[in-house]
Amino acid sequence: MKEKIKKNIKDIESFSALSNEEIETFRIKYLGKKGLINSYFIDFKSLDNDKKKDVGQLLNQLKNSANSKVEELKTYLSSDNSQPKLNDLSRPGDPIQIGSRHPISIVKNRIVEIFSNIGFTISEGPEIEDDWHNFSALNLPEHHPARDMQDTFFVNKDPDFLLRTHTSSVQVRFMENNKPPIRTISPGRVYRNEAISARSHCFFHQIEGLCIDKNVSFADLKQTLEYFTTQLFGKSKIRLRPSYFPFTEPSAEVDVYWGLNNETDYKMTKGTGWLEIMGCGMVDPNVLENCNIDPNEYSGFAFGLGIDRIALLLHQIDDIRLLSENDVRFLDQFKSSF
Ligand code: DAH
Repeated sequence: MKEKIKKNIKDIESFSALSNEEIETFRIKYLGKKGLINSYFIDFKSLDNDKKKDVGQLLNQLKNSANSKVEELKTYLSSDNSQPKLNDLSRPGDPIQIGSRHPISIVKNRIVEIFSNIGFTISEGPEIEDDWHNFSALNLPEHHPARDMQDTFFVNKDPDFLLRTHTSSVQVRFMENNKPPIRTISPGRVYRNEAISARSHCFFHQIEGLCIDKNVSFADLKQTLEYFTTQLFGKSKIRLRPSYFPFTEPSAEVDVYWGLNNETDYKMTKGTGWLEIMGCGMVDPNVLENCNIDPNEYSGFAFGLGIDRIALLLHQIDDIRLLSENDVRFLDQFKSSF
């Protein structure tokens, strides 16, 4: 009898129930009028006196553990199910808060991928630049009026150090350190001394492209740009408008045909269907010479585009300041992009 009771105690300890019915069945089995414990008490009466002490103690233990098990299971089942139950290993884990990529990074990574696929390497340069790499080597000598096209933050005067106003400075560094053939893109942050508004900021991001080789022509430039706009926007129709940049000759501004299919298209393109996306041109022979590349042997094209502007276009964001405020509620929206 003692062994049987000990086994019952063990069984009770490991018992668990998922419904009130199961608890009730358990209660009836052990504690009911015709239950196990009562039947033990009946047998107990006919035991020899010397055995009664041990068995009595065990019987009380059995009764107590059955009672507390019933209480424990009832409390467990009636407790708020939304609260995690520590001993229920089948419950799903707490959701983990996952961050998201910044829209600038998403667009930058995509553009880098598009150009990597056609053999462009990635190059970078310093954000604090000297006058030579940001201006002079790019055919913008001191006092050249075109320097005013990009209002500059100066860090130091004489020698001049400044926050680079464009990623074209990386072109110069790359050509100084590498021999043609060159195919490289340079993403990075640039700075301009401009009033902050919904449309402009004092820092933003650009990607510079450079291709130098023998016999590179304007047709190569145009084809590369068509490939790019098809990949990024799914639109292959572009137009090149004559423009001026000191470091390219001839220079052009690139528009992509977005279409006029709905109200947003009208708004974005100001009713023209065309969107301006970047500047480009054939690298000026003076720039090649400044970087010790012979312009009689080599030619090339360059282009520069604003990543922020593309991010605003692709995600229909109407205020550039949102890109630098880093409000988590804003950034959260880009979790599933790309
Ligand atoms: N650096 C120019 C800017 O910041 C962009 C640009 C235009 C880069 C034409 C180029 C280019 O390489 O060929 O406005």
